[in-house]
Amino acid sequence: MRHLLSTRDLRRDEVVALLDIAEDMADVSGREIKKLPALRGKTVVNLFFEDSTRTRVSFEVAAKRLSADVINFSAKGSSVSKGESLKDTAQTLAAMGADAVVIRHGASGAPRVLADSGWIDAGIVNAGDGTHEHPTQALLDAFTIRKRLHGVASRGRGLDGVAVTIVGDILHSRVARSNVWLLTTLGAHVSLVAPATLLPVDTRHWPVTVGYDLDIAIDSAPDVVMMLRIQSERMNAAFFPNAREYSREWGLGDDRVDRLPAASMVMHPGPMNRGLEISAAAADSVQSTVLEQVANGVSIRMAVLYSLLAGSDS
Ligand code: ASP
Ligand code: CP
Repeated sequence: MRHLLSTRDLRRDEVVALLDIAEDMADVSGREIKKLPALRGKTVVNLFFEDSTRTRVSFEVAAKRLSADVINFSAKGSSVSKGESLKDTAQTLAAMGADAVVIRHGASGAPRVLADSGWIDAGIVNAGDGTHEHPTQALLDAFTIRKRLHGVASRGRGLDGVAVTIVGDILHSRVARSNVWLLTTLGAHVSLVAPATLLPVDTRHWPVTVGYDLDIAIDSAPDVVMMLRIQSERMNAAFFPNAREYSREWGLGDDRVDRLPAASMVMHPGPMNRGLEISAAAADSVQSTVLEQVANGVSIRMAVLYSLLAGSDS
């Protein structure tokens, strides 16, 4: 693997192999000394043009656990505010030596441009581009589901027949898109539930079923309910009447969690709007995997950096 830009073009065997490497990385993270020398001498640049807590920090932790050097760049406070372009910013950082560039950008396709342009000679990892994709989020979500379902017997497995319901602001969600491609490649059945205003028109071409009623979806007892954040920062119009109505119709409130089977997982990529798309009780319930997702994010990002960079000299 040279770059990780999208989950759409990943094959099942490639994904299973990545998840299996992440299992090995999780074993390392459970040891007293959490470091491997695998990427000693390599440099990873975190290039963040949009805000992030989990993704940026976990890529940093992942790179450090593999003994790589890390440069953290965030557009806020940089010369981007003086008008410097993506090309010049990337080339400036690459000139200081970068073997991999982890990029988050508000423009869908920015990581692809960086990978295809030849501006820099580094592996590119998409850490979220506009409303397009967030591949490492989908990988860590798949890893989390597989681990909850199969525990120590996870290695080598996909997610055949697992029912996943993704709920909320699908229109603006790169997490939803990456998960639709990845989870279906692994054999899961994905359904989307959202108000019609927050569903993209092209979902009819996606490998999913679409519904509008969260109660029907909950009563079908899915294995996984994945709640999405309302992406207010990407909304330039009113997509629903008000927060109270959204939370009543589309939020995972206490009564809906109570109706889920005990084994169903409640997922959210974070950051959460508690009280809007998910109640505090749902977010903190035993069914919630929110913090497991964060912890698994480190193992997944170690696996991705390792696959991109280890042995890249040979
Ligand atoms: N953190 C995820 C993303 O950057 C999800 C979200 O922000 O709602 O796409
Ligand atoms: N889930 C996720 O990508 O979180 P951040 O936006 O905090 O990185």
